[in-house]
Amino acid sequence: MHPDDFEFVARLLKDRSGLVLTRDKGYLVENRLMPLVRQRRMKGINDVIAGLRAGEASLTDSVVDAMMAKDTAFFRDWKPFEHFRTVVLPNLIAQRGTKKTFRVLCAGVSTGQEAYSLAIIMREYGRALAGWKAEIVGVDISAASIATAQLALYSQFDVQRGLPIRLLLKHFKKRDESWSLNGDIQGMVGFMRWNLMDDLFPLGRFDVILCRNVLVYNDLQTKFNVLQKLARVAADDGVLYVGRNEPLTGVSSSFKVVNPDLGVYTVTRAEKATTRSLADAT
Ligand SMILES: C[S@@+](CC[C@H](N)C(=O)[O-])C[C@H]1O[C@@H](n2cnc3c(N)ncnc32)[C@H](O)[C@@H]1O
Repeated sequence: MHPDDFEFVARLLKDRSGLVLTRDKGYLVENRLMPLVRQRRMKGINDVIAGLRAGEASLTDSVVDAMMAKDTAFFRDWKPFEHFRTVVLPNLIAQRGTKKTFRVLCAGVSTGQEAYSLAIIMREYGRALAGWKAEIVGVDISAASIATAQLALYSQFDVQRGLPIRLLLKHFKKRDESWSLNGDIQGMVGFMRWNLMDDLFPLGRFDVILCRNVLVYNDLQTKFNVLQKLARVAADDGVLYVGRNEPLTGVSSSFKVVNPDLGVYTVTRAEKATTRSLADAT
């Protein structure tokens, strides 16, 4: 790929999605865009670049989509989900008991496994959540990922990664070679295509936010900007989960660490110095 073309694509991706590509990633651009070349019956990457330079909107969206790292799994890293089940959920039930409602945002939800893992935990929680209105919202910049998430149909490979067999057999039905998530769990999650670079206020307010393994591909300024936006839509005692290798120290003062190993943070607001966080274990 010509260096000028690489610079152009890298700039476009940074502006549109926050993704940072270092100069040695030319091969990655070519690898990820080749399926698009075939799908659109183009002659090669040069046709893609020409279309991007001409400002073709649908091609630009497809390129951004294709360049995203979408790796995910049910109950990825397991322990943060245990923390949610054993600490955050009981605290939500204790502290939101009057309204019996809370909302969870999965920012950068990819193909949905993260959001559905939370929904399964809530469903398994049983009677303590009976009568509650608990909403999970999953957003992602990738239209293809959101479509997959909405379908809730996963391959054998997908369900073998992190999903305990007991939960698989209880909450999924085998359909040909795939596994279809039961409607009651599906109905607990709403998915939307959304760019975290955009205003998040229209999404409403959230008690718990997961933004795991998303900002790791962004530069410091983008991380800061997105975290500011997330902090603004978080409840005053809200909890944030990031990936376990994404410490926020020196990135944003909007959140303070609760458990660095699990990537658990809580909102910091000057006026909430005495408010107990939902992420506090005691
Ligand atoms: C590696 S996946 C992580 C999925 C999931 N959170 C997890 O930890 O398993 C990162 C996801 O973030 C999404 N993403 C990256 N930049 C984004 C942006 N600016 N707005 C919304 N989603 C974004 C990607 O499309 C991708 O699906």
